[in-house]
Formats: sequence, C-alpha cells, structure tokens
Amino acid sequence: MPSRAEATTLPSAVGVIGLGRMAQALLLPLLEAGQLQPGAVCASVATEGSAERLTQALGLTVGTDPRPCMAAPMLLLALKPQQLEGLLRALAPLPSPPPPPPGLERPLLVSVLAGVPLQRLHDAFPGWDVVRCVPNAPALVRRGLIGVSVAETLAPAARQLAHALLSPVGRVLDLPESQLDAFLALTSSGPAFVALVIEALADGAVAAGLPRAQALELAQAMAAGSLELLERQQLHPAQLKDMVASPGGTTMAGLRRLEAAGLRSALIEAVLAAWERSRALA
Ligand SMILES: NC(=O)c1ccc[n+]([C@@H]2O[C@H](COP(=O)([O-])OP(=O)(O)OC[C@H]3O[C@@H](n4cnc5c(N)ncnc54)[C@H](OP(=O)(O)O)[C@@H]3O)[C@@H](O)[C@H]2O)c1
Repeated sequence: MPSRAEATTLPSAVGVIGLGRMAQALLLPLLEAGQLQPGAVCASVATEGSAERLTQALGLTVGTDPRPCMAAPMLLLALKPQQLEGLLRALAPLPSPPPPPPGLERPLLVSVLAGVPLQRLHDAFPGWDVVRCVPNAPALVRRGLIGVSVAETLAPAARQLAHALLSPVGRVLDLPESQLDAFLALTSSGPAFVALVIEALADGAVAAGLPRAQALELAQAMAAGSLELLERQQLHPAQLKDMVASPGGTTMAGLRRLEAAGLRSALIEAVLAAWERSRALA
C-alpha cells in the first residue's frame, strides 16, 4: 500500500493537454503554492500563438506537440470535448504509457472533458488509470465544486492523487459516474442560471429607476450577502425567505408575482434540461 504522503504528493512531472481557462485555473494555485514547479509542467495547446503567449505569461514549457506531455506520469486532459477525436488522430499511434507516479501501478490521466465517459477515456488511453472530473467556473476563483468519478477498481492512492491536483481550486466530491450529469446540471450550468437571475433582478431595479451600473453592482452584492447569510447561519433557503417576507409587505408582493410567473418551476426545468442535454451529449 502506498503511503498517504506518496499518494498526495504530485509527481515530478505533469503533462497537460489543453491549457485553456480550466487547466490554468487548476494549475496556477499549485504553481503559486510551490506544490508544482514550472519546470515540472509539460503543456500542449493547438496553436503556435497560444503556445508562445502562454510560455511568456506563465513561464511553462508550452508547445503544440502533445506527445512529450504523454511522457509524464500524470496527465491533465483539458481540451474541449469536441477536440478529443482530433487529438487522438494526431497522437495515433498512441505512445506507450509512461512509468506510473510513485506509489501507483499505472500513470494517471485526469480528464475535465464534459460529457466524455470513463469508458471512452479508458478505451482511448489504454494502460492509463483514469479519473473523470466535472469542475465548475467558480474554480477560477478557488470556490469551485469538482465532482470526481473513477472506476471501481481504481486504487485509493490514485484517487487521492487526483484530489491533490484538484482540491486547491475548491471542494472535491467523489460521485458515482451515474450522478455526474445531475452534478454538472446543478454546479456547472448553475452559475449561468444564477447570473441570469441576478441580471434580471438588476433589470427590475433599472425599470424602477436605478442607474444600470448601480443596479448591477447592488444585485450582485445582495446575492453575495444573501449566500453568506445562508452559509454562516446554516439556514435552509426557505428560512431566509420567511425571514425577509413580512406579512403584507413588499417581499411578499414580489414573491406572489414570482410564483404566478412560475419561477420555481422554470428553474427546476432548467436544471432538468441541462441534465438531459448532458446525457444526450455523452
Ligand atoms: N471553463 C469552464 O468553466 C469549465 C467547466 C467545466 C468543465 N470544463 C471543461 O474543461 C475543458 C476545457 O475548457 P476551457 O474552458 O478551459 O476551454 P478553452 O479555454 O477553450 O481551452 C481549450 C484548450 O485546449 C487547447 N487545444 C485544443 N485542441 C488541442 C489539441 N488537439 N491538442 C492540445 N491542445 C488543444 C486549446 O489551445 P488553443 O488555445 O491553441 O486553441 C486551449 O488551450 C472542456 O473539456 C470543458 O468541458 C470547463
């Protein structure tokens, strides 16, 4: 059995295929904390322009050939799902798997590709252990939620190593793969739903006479404060609603209108639609 220290220490080399927003969000905290040295990262992107820009900006080795990245014992796969087939064509024939990180039996591939199932990743990268994860946009500010699914046969040490890569940007949750689409519908699509609600609330304030910029700033601050209140006082959302809605008051008037317009049902349907779409894409 590998020790916990071995399993949670990142290997001396990490490959990255696709160094866009999400891969940078995952890597930068590790680089800043010194848990990963810039020289340990071998990254590849699609275009020379991006490679040059990222080499300059991040001080990493960034090229356009993915093959050298596949020599690292841990590989972060972070291109767009629709770019995977092109990558596999460019890699064919796939290089032999490299030696594993200390304490593991096989090299470890961590994929953030939305909708690409574990089985597809296992088929595409034979000889690698595979972790499928679903991060969300707040990972960009280290307040992410990251759902992680692995094959039942995966060694606990491999899962721990994936957690070590992902946990600096948020909360990592182990989930059965059958729940990942629901997790994505809530946590990955959810930020857009919340953003829409905030924007619409600001529109309401503009309609009532506030300047646009102020309305947006206030709507956002109100949402952030409300979330903090929920969190700090461990309130159920209904408790916060009841706390604000006094008998015959302004909030109750607004709530009646929201119920009549079907906001609650629209949000339920939005999450379900995202869930169905995620399943269809997979
Ligand atoms: N952003 C999010 O909030 C979020 C949330 C959940 C999941 N994800 C997942 O994260 C993954 C990446 O998303 P993103 O938003 O970071 O995308 P992105 O910013 O568009 O980055 C994609 C990266 O992949 C590179 N790339 C494309 N084809 C490649 C190839 N054949 N070989 C090597 N690199 C290649 C691109 O290089 P160029 O710049 O040269 O084109 C770019 O660096 C997606 O699979 C997505 O499902 C993202």
